[in-house]
Parts: sequence; C-alpha cells; structure tokens
Amino acid sequence: MIAEQSLVEEAFQALEDSIIYYNGRPVGTIAARDPEVDALNYDQCFIRDFVSSALVFLIKDRAEIVRNFLEVTLKLQPKERQLDSSKPGVGLIPASFKVEISNGKEQVKADFGEHAIARVSPVDSCLWWIILLRAYVNSTKDTALAYRADFQQGIRLILELCLVSRFDMEPTLLVTDGASMIDRRMGLYGHPIDIQSLFYAALRGASELLFPNKDNQYLIKALHSRLNPLIKHIQENYWLNTERLNVIYRYKVEEYGENVLNRFNIYSDSIPFHTLTEWLPETGGYLAGNLGPSHIDCRFFAVGNLMAIVSSLASKQQSQAILNLIEERWSDLLGDMPMKICFPALEDIEWKIITGCDPKNRAWSYHNGGNWPVLIWMFVAAVQKMGRTELGHEAIKIAEKRLSKDEWAEYYDGKKGTLVGKEARKYQTWSIAGYLLAKELMANPRHLKLVSFDEYP
Ligand code: GLC
Repeated sequence: MIAEQSLVEEAFQALEDSIIYYNGRPVGTIAARDPEVDALNYDQCFIRDFVSSALVFLIKDRAEIVRNFLEVTLKLQPKERQLDSSKPGVGLIPASFKVEISNGKEQVKADFGEHAIARVSPVDSCLWWIILLRAYVNSTKDTALAYRADFQQGIRLILELCLVSRFDMEPTLLVTDGASMIDRRMGLYGHPIDIQSLFYAALRGASELLFPNKDNQYLIKALHSRLNPLIKHIQENYWLNTERLNVIYRYKVEEYGENVLNRFNIYSDSIPFHTLTEWLPETGGYLAGNLGPSHIDCRFFAVGNLMAIVSSLASKQQSQAILNLIEERWSDLLGDMPMKICFPALEDIEWKIITGCDPKNRAWSYHNGGNWPVLIWMFVAAVQKMGRTELGHEAIKIAEKRLSKDEWAEYYDGKKGTLVGKEARKYQTWSIAGYLLAKELMANPRHLKLVSFDEYP
C-alpha cells in the first residue's frame, strides 16, 4: 500500500515537472523528459500525448491548464484558405507545438508534420481536440468557452474538413498512413480503425458542443446523418469473430451490384484463417484494423478497439466480446506491460513491404507489436464501462511492478512486452499520466463520463 502510494506521488511529481509554460501560464506537457538522450521533438507538446495529462488535470481540479491548452492550440489552427500547398489545410490542428523565444519574446510554434519524420499528417489531432474540449466542458460546466465564437468556428472548420469535401463513398474517414498514434508507415492508409473510433467520438462530442444556431445548422445535420451509417458500417463490416470468419471464408467474389454480400470483394486467400480460428476464443471478437477494396487487415489494434468500447461505437455485445478476447489472450495483448499497440507484429516479407523496412518498427518492437504503458488508461476506461473492473485491477498490478523501476519508459518490446523498448524514451509523460489516469478511473468510475458516450439513439 505504501509502495503504491509513493508510486502515485512520484508520478504526480513527474507530471508536474513536464508542464510547459507560455507567458507564465501552464499550457501543456512535453512528450518526454529523458535526461540521457537528445530531445529531438520530444520536448514538444503533442496533442494526442496531452490528452491523458489533460484528463488527469481535469480530475484534479486543474482545468485551467486544459483551458489554456485548448485556447493556444485553437489559435494554431489555420482559418483561411490558401493556395500555397506547402501550408497546412484549413481546420487542421497540429501534431505538436513548442514555446520558443524569438526577439526576446515567447512564441508558440506549431508542427503540422512538416518537421516530423516522414512528414506524416496528424489527422487524429483535430479529433482528440474536440474530444478533449467536450471532456473539459463536461468537467467544468464551462459551456461559455465552447460557445465562444472562435471555438464554434474551430469546431466547424474541423467538421468541414471531415464531412464536406471528400473523395470517398464510405461513412468512415479516409486518411494517409501514419495519421495517428502510429505515426510511421504501418499499412494504416485508407480507413484504419484507430482513426474511425476517434472520428466517431469527435462527431459525438461536436454534436454536444455546437450551438444550435443558423451558422451551425448544416453541420449539425451533416454530422447526425453520418453517425448511423458509420456505426452500421463499423459494427457490420469491421467485426471479426468465428461466426463472421465462417461467412467470409465462403464469400463469393467478383460480385457486381448494390446488394452483394462481399461488398469489398475480399479474397479468402488474403485472410490468415487458420491462425485466426485458433486465436479467437468462442466468446471473443474484435474490430478489424482496416477495411478497403479487397483488403481487410486482420491485425488487432488497441486504440481503435478500446475507444470503440468507450465511445459506444461498438455494440454492447461486441464490447463484451472484445474484452473476452483480451482476457483470454492476456499474454498476447497485455503481457508484461499493458498493453500491446497491435497484434500480431508484421514479420519478414510483410515487414519489408508494409513498413518499408523500418528498423525502428521491426517485429515486436515500437508500433509493430510493442507494448505501450499509455494504453492502460483506455483499457481501464473500457473495462470500467463494461463492468469488468477485475481486469483493470489486474492490469494495473502488472504495470506497477515496472513503471517506476524502468523510469516510465515510452514503450516495451518483445512478444510479451518484456524488454524496455530499444529506443524508448524514459520519463515519457503519457506513460506517467496514463498510469495516473487509470488509477483515477479505477478509484472513481464517475470520471469515466469525461470520455465515454452512451449508445447513439
Ligand atoms: C512517437 C509516437 C507518437 C507520439 C510521439 C510523442 O512519435 O509514435 O504517437 O505522439 O512519439 O510522444
């Protein structure tokens, strides 16, 4: 008990030390404070990384930091259309920002991917931004902030980006590879589940935040008309369990017309049926990693599946089945450090072709089957929502054995996540905040409502 107490204290201190100030006001947290390696861009505040810190701050009555963060990042969002293609598009929220001194004055500098490795675009930032604004309003009841003209405009611009002009016929959101937490090439172009769950939660959040006036009418209508088709598409076409595998196994191909069963023309040979039928427990299932023309990615992705539970994008039965799968395949998916970012890893030729021979993403390392401590809060939120708290206690117990000893590593490698990641940063803020948030969610289920949604009516 005492050990647990001091771990929490240590984590709170480390979180405090990671806070970034702008003109004397706290505005975010840096990604990592590893004294032993070159900071690269880990000295910046990443939007996705800050979410776990922000939720802890909201719970601990420090909403001011979250408010400052939302204001600062909103100012970085491009508002005017430009012909210059090297400039970020209207509505985008950057991947990260930092506070720099220029001519003796502090200045906030955004990175929309133009400095990032491989120039990946941060699609998830604008989605997390809405999810976080909604959590802030939920916690503080400060609707006045969300209803401010600049915030309403910010939400509208994000929605326009996602809903209005598109190259697509699906209700899901089309993105390039590396558009979210997995921000390197990993075969996640198209319609990856990690993005779709955040997209759905952002739409739900926006529907609460948009003031019902004339300016917003069109977008409110647009988002509501997107939600039901999105839910149906994900719940029906992304779902994988033994029953579904049986259907897919016997799919007819090359079907033409509107009412065909094999809508995406999936060829049976592209699916690892033998491994999957062995791996899937009778009562388990999950949402596939990606779906597109003749392509169903059968890897399990944690963010997409857990956030689908938390946001009610997955049905109640599906949510229970996802947790059944995790419970039954505990060693694969939780292992020695909760939890695996995706499973299984891409190996050999698949690794070569899909990652482009990325040495950081070798099999069972980093994004390619590594274990990430930050994911523990999403896991705990999901089990809390579905009344399976015993699983959350178990996961926290495992994490507590190593988090502090390994100096709050960014990620772990190996099939069970036993090794501290080869290039993992130490004192990674979202590992610290993710743990604190998991503890808070476990201790007080009331906090779950900051990020969860009931079923869409
Ligand atoms: C790595 C991760 C990314 C994270 C960033 C900062 O690039 O892949 O998800 O936001 O580090 O921690």
